Amino acid sequence: MKIAIINGPNINLLGKREPEIYGEVSFDQFFTQLQEEYPSIQFLHFQSNIEGEIIDKLQEVDESYDGIILNAAAYTHTSVGIGDAVKAIEIPVIEVHISNVWARESFRHTSYISAYAKGVIAGFGLQSYELAVESFMGK
Ligand code: DQA
Repeated sequence: MKIAIINGPNINLLGKREPEIYGEVSFDQFFTQLQEEYPSIQFLHFQSNIEGEIIDKLQEVDESYDGIILNAAAYTHTSVGIGDAVKAIEIPVIEVHISNVWARESFRHTSYISAYAKGVIAGFGLQSYELAVESFMGK
């Protein structure tokens, strides 16, 4: 199974950024652990702070991967373009968030992605990504 993880703006700062919300582990550290935890899965990790690059990557991995785990971060709440891309592609997308976006500011309660996602997992810290992997594995 091939799973692409696509992360949006500021996820490259994980570990340093608001650790009380996002934790103290960098995404690279977590990604190494994830690969060890699921050796049978071929993962791709892509992070960008640029909206168009995220759209390009969603289109690029379509059909060559079994699924996408997407944390579009702040673009979740603003990007019609990323929502349209998720709608347009064939493979399933699981929307994830590290924090519980519904327990935070009201502008984080809107998602341009959720309507086209297979499902949404939020609020479990980095475990949100693991839960998405388990879902793709049918567990
Ligand atoms: C986030 C939640 C977003 O509201 C925020 O802009 C992020 C991260 C999360 O994973 O909890 O950057 O997507």
